[in-house]
Amino acid sequence: MNLKDCHNVEDFRKLAKKKLPSPIFHYIDGGSDDEITLKRNTDSFNKCDLIPNVLTGASDIDLTTTVLGQKIGFPLFLSATAMHRLYHHEGETATARAADKMGTMFGISTMSTTSIEEIGKLTKGPKLFQLYIHKDKGLTDNLIERCKKSGFNSMCLTVDAVVAGNRERDHRTGFSTPPRLTLGSLLSFALHPTWSLNYLFRKKFELSNVIHTTDKGSKIDQSVMNYMNEQFEAKMSWSDAEYCVKKWGGPFALKGVMSVQDAKKAIDIGCTAIIISNHGGRQLDGSRTPFDQLTEIVDAVGDKIEVILDSGVRRGTHVLKALALGAKACSFGKGYLFALGAAGQQGVELLLQKMKAEINRDMILMGCKSIKDLNRSKVIFRKD
Ligand code: LAC
Repeated sequence: MNLKDCHNVEDFRKLAKKKLPSPIFHYIDGGSDDEITLKRNTDSFNKCDLIPNVLTGASDIDLTTTVLGQKIGFPLFLSATAMHRLYHHEGETATARAADKMGTMFGISTMSTTSIEEIGKLTKGPKLFQLYIHKDKGLTDNLIERCKKSGFNSMCLTVDAVVAGNRERDHRTGFSTPPRLTLGSLLSFALHPTWSLNYLFRKKFELSNVIHTTDKGSKIDQSVMNYMNEQFEAKMSWSDAEYCVKKWGGPFALKGVMSVQDAKKAIDIGCTAIIISNHGGRQLDGSRTPFDQLTEIVDAVGDKIEVILDSGVRRGTHVLKALALGAKACSFGKGYLFALGAAGQQGVELLLQKMKAEINRDMILMGCKSIKDLNRSKVIFRKD
């Protein structure tokens, strides 16, 4: 299997599985506990059906939208995810270039392996920084200031990961950062010599944004779960979130909001957007899916704050369904990380091309000329 065999997210997933040592692949692919939420995230889109209108003459479709103050070419962007250097030796640089080329937004994490400054120099396109509040309080101000200087347009605070979810696949594979050779994983690294040689001889793995402030930045040498539990501020509160919103002063999203109550509080503290997300099923297993929660949240706050849907998006039709219910845009993480692991920038670019083409084709088949035409009349929930 190679890139020409990749037509959808699942194909990229299969290619990533072939290309990456198993601890790395399973770190992307996995969820928490029994992975029930992980599976339901995507399944939930199938609870409703699209109702097309025919003979509308829709052919030149306007897919553009504005999200967090940035115009994007189609209503799907790349969630901020951590440590891209693990998946491809070009790391976040590959992701940023692919997003830039395809005219959409991407995000980098506090735990990225390319620095805020390097990304700032790389592209003037829409970019989002994902904050994790560490116990080291000074770090938050430091990150926000650096993002301002480096031309980041928007920021999100991830609020569903104050402690790490129980990723049992990582326990089983012995996944750690930087990857450690253990007896169990040795064979897997040996069977993926291209990845292993790139890992050993290309740019060194480091958490570039925190390397100067925490000694764990360069030598975590532990599981990501341990890093999160040791470094993240588990007592993070609404006033901490409000502090970040004010300190940043630009478009700001809370990522990981799942209840109407919290969506309303996000408005109160001045957020521009909420990202309804359960962290790709990696945190609280058994939590409701973003798609199942979308209608209730849009009905309560959709006219006051941008609602973005994340977690489980794999198809153009998923994006159409979310938009019909009132989401402003969708984002995905695992989907594009498979493409990054499969083929770096080229992989992410190809996946984005495919997703954009799917969205465009689905819009034509729905008889919708622009995403404004997607509304509640276009979907019906099945009773079975
Ligand atoms: C994860 C964190 C780092 O899901 O976002 O692994």
